[in-house]
Amino acid sequence: LIIVLDFGGQYTHLIARRIRELGIYSEILPYNAPLEKIANLNPKGIILSGGPSSVYEKDAPYLKQEFYEYAKGNIPLLGLCYGHHLIGQYFKGKVVAHKEKEFGKTEFIVKRHDYIFKNTNPKEIVWMSHGDQVERLPPDFEIFGSTATCPIAAMGNINQKIYGFQFHPEVYHTIHGKEILRNFIIDICQAQQNWKIDDWIEGAIKDIQKEVGEKQIILGLSGGVDSSVVALLLKKAIGNNVHPIFVNNGVLRKNEVEQVCDWFQNQLKFENFHYVDAETEFLEALKGIEDPEEKRKIIGHQFIKVFEKTALKLEEIHPNIEYLAQGTIYPDRVESQAGQGGKISSKIKSHHNLTLPDDMKLKILEPLKDLYKDEVRKLGFLLGLPQELIGRHPFPGPGLAVRCIGDITKEKLDTLRDADAIVIEEIKKAGLYDQIWQAFAVFLPVKSVGVMGDYRTYEYLCALRIVESIDAMTANFAKLDWSILEQISSRIINEVIGINRVVYDISNKPPATIEFE
Ligand code: XMP
Repeated sequence: LIIVLDFGGQYTHLIARRIRELGIYSEILPYNAPLEKIANLNPKGIILSGGPSSVYEKDAPYLKQEFYEYAKGNIPLLGLCYGHHLIGQYFKGKVVAHKEKEFGKTEFIVKRHDYIFKNTNPKEIVWMSHGDQVERLPPDFEIFGSTATCPIAAMGNINQKIYGFQFHPEVYHTIHGKEILRNFIIDICQAQQNWKIDDWIEGAIKDIQKEVGEKQIILGLSGGVDSSVVALLLKKAIGNNVHPIFVNNGVLRKNEVEQVCDWFQNQLKFENFHYVDAETEFLEALKGIEDPEEKRKIIGHQFIKVFEKTALKLEEIHPNIEYLAQGTIYPDRVESQAGQGGKISSKIKSHHNLTLPDDMKLKILEPLKDLYKDEVRKLGFLLGLPQELIGRHPFPGPGLAVRCIGDITKEKLDTLRDADAIVIEEIKKAGLYDQIWQAFAVFLPVKSVGVMGDYRTYEYLCALRIVESIDAMTANFAKLDWSILEQISSRIINEVIGINRVVYDISNKPPATIEFE
């Protein structure tokens, strides 16, 4: 096991993911986790993440002396960016704010090609994102690499097995980042590559059986991959004692209800699958609401209301229902505990999660709580989830409500659904669906003039949002062939009533976000 201590860095998750990709289990803990907790996990190595603070600031998060005493010479340490500064400062080097910030892909000259930089080139491309830097090397450390403006871009104390990088090996743009992390984790920490999702399933099923016994479980099913995998895992563990509840919230995509019902009832044969049509209630609650955060809040509340009503009804028929399962995955959990680590990045959008009132007294079961999305997908594959479902693009909880800009009506949603279905159909036809992170249509409440045959039209605008991404943290608009965009545009304008103009969104994230609202 490798522990990543989180100082609030935006790439902390990537570090843990890269380690797991190497076949080693890894966990993220807040930087101020008690030493006892860290020691009990018996880590083979510890990585200190980046973070937004400066080590010389008052109240900057830091590690106590007892931590260094525990780790020094005993457990290899690697500090990244802020973690590098912490090591620099603690071991009596000096960290300062540099006059020039260094950001993006940077040329890095490797000074030592052994140890942590084994099998690297004399010059490497690394990802930098910093203002501060280690200006004076701590005694007993040596420089492992430099960039033009950062002479101590990598340093280490070989005997003590302590390393620090100013750059981010966990970011894909660092070309040999994974190899460098591999050198640290496998050669220096000597961690065993024994983390495999296949082995995980058996243990998870046994744990569920032991905990739940003959009791029954309800589960909110969204039709996305996480809750679907939970449903299937539970079915493997406790058979038809699982009750997936699928709510039509009125902001689903075209044919989504039919599709999800078909998967779960006909293909996967869930006998206790429950479909609830709450379209009217949701649209009533959303009437006249323009603010995106307000929409999210209403949808969240409404969902709880509908879910609670259904669950109570089910409880009457099945008095054995004692659990509520959720598709919470690792990033959801660590993000919601953020704040324990240094400063946290400010809230951009609130993503809703299901929380039921206390008086329901259901015990919560979150079997995927330690897994990453790619691991959940693999699990879905091993459990026999339809491939089409596993590979589905992410779809936000508030659904089309945040893609129908301004106030929402059923008519606008129907128009959007038709346009959106065309986008997906054409992207699939072009064989691009699996390479693209998300592709969808957005309804813009703006009218423009057009001409159709001999007539003037005055209708709504539709934007296409098609992005490539690895983890939704950053995204680039897809540079598709014009012919595909043309085909989508002409089909939407010809086939969808109410839209006479299609525009392509060419903004990247950041500074734009993937969704429009
Ligand atoms: P943004 O728009 O923030 O989206 O760049 C990043 C990823 O999150 C999805 N998203 C949401 N998911 N509830 C969700 O469950 C939400 O409110 C929400 N808003 C955005 C978005 O689709 C993208 O994959």
